[in-house]
This record gives sequence, C-alpha cells and structure tokens, in this order.
Amino acid sequence: MDQIKKRVYTPYSGSDEYCLVEGSSGMIYPGVRIENSSFPLTISSIQAAVCSCLANNDKPISYWHDDPEPELTSYWQAEYDLTKKDNAYAISQKLLFNPIDKKVPDFSDRLMDLCSQAITPNSNFSVAAILETERGYITGVNVEGSSWALGLCAERVAISRAIAAGAGDFFSMHIMAPKSDFCSPCGACRQVIHEFMPKKQIHLYHTDLQKSVHVAEHLLPYAFTAKSL
Ligand code: THU
Repeated sequence: MDQIKKRVYTPYSGSDEYCLVEGSSGMIYPGVRIENSSFPLTISSIQAAVCSCLANNDKPISYWHDDPEPELTSYWQAEYDLTKKDNAYAISQKLLFNPIDKKVPDFSDRLMDLCSQAITPNSNFSVAAILETERGYITGVNVEGSSWALGLCAERVAISRAIAAGAGDFFSMHIMAPKSDFCSPCGACRQVIHEFMPKKQIHLYHTDLQKSVHVAEHLLPYAFTAKSL
C-alpha cells in the first residue's frame, strides 16, 4: 500500500491521494492522483482506478481509500453503486491488476483488438493506446459514463495505469482511432502527454494502416507547462 501511495504524481499540491477499486472479477485496481500543470486536467485517483477497471472489461463493485478522500468520490460511488470498504483489502499480489506486458506488441493488430474493449455508450467511437515504458507496454481504451466530462480518453487510461503501476518512465505512445481517417489525439491528451513525455515519439495509426510519427512537443506548440505557473 505504501508503495502505491508513493506513486502519486502531485507536484503541484503534494497530496497523497490514492485508492483501490475492486472489480467483480476479484481483481484490485490501484489509482493514484495525477496532476497536470493545467489543474483541471488532473485525474483523481478514483477516476483512474474505476476507468482502469472498466477498460479491462471488469465491473467496479467497491472501493477503499486512505486520507485524503479522492476528488469526486461521491460521483463515482453513485455512478457504479460502489460499496465503500473501511479497511484496505487483504491484497495478495496476484490479485492486484498488473497492466504491464513485457512482450513487444504487433502494434496495429493489438491496437485494433483493443478498440473492441472501449466503453463508448455515448459516442460509439473507439480509441486504443499503447504506452511503451521502461518496464513494458501498457494499454488503454476510452471509457465513457453518464458524465461526459469525467470519462477518460484511451491515452490517459494508459498513462494513469502506468503511473499507478510504478512505470513512470515513458518511451513512446501508440494511438489508433479506427473511425477517423486521420488519428489525432485531443488537446487534453496532448497536454497530459506533454506533462510526462514532451520529447518522446507519438505514433498515430491512420486508416489503411498508414502511420505518422511525431515528437510529443510538436503536437502542442507553445505548451502551457509547470514553468508557466
Ligand atoms: N477520445 C480518446 O480516447 N482519445 C482522444 O485523443 C480523442 C477522444 C475518446 C473520448 C471519447 O470517449 C470519444 O473519443 C469521443 O470524444
């Protein structure tokens, strides 16, 4: 638990916000608070954990958090009718969700497969992302719920899973959105990507398996950064 707590990315507030969400499969999904120099793009720990669970085609059923209470806990609790646990689960390592895959994926095939896991009741628009980190490959798909504002894009699911898993050194990101002719990450994701990997490569998989590769900071010219604060 202490290890997960240490993984928060909170350079702006210093908060230790983290939590665990249990899926109906029995798997435990950790979530840590992930801040951004643009504060409203901060991902709360419970948002990260619930979206990680849903993106794994699992159903969140309960949660536990330490102090402080994760931001917007009441929304997530009500959205999925989550039971609040008062004690940290008796967690064995094998039950803790491990998003890290060591094997180099066949990116286009894996991204296409992942798209079928996206949770898109509102948009029916699937996006998949694979983040390459120093510890392996971590996937994400977009997750939507009743609040459009509180869903997470595929890129941010991958980033939040990686940080909660302690894989904080990012090498490259691979993104596919099969319904777009030209795959283009949204501005919010560019801002979050820029926070963690401004000099790293972003691989975009377009239709007809055309691909373009960009340096993250070139996708966000004149970025708002910690130095701007
Ligand atoms: N979406 C992503 O997952 N990544 C992006 O970069 C663009 C948008 C998702 C969010 C939402 O679930 C759907 O696409 C429509 O906006």
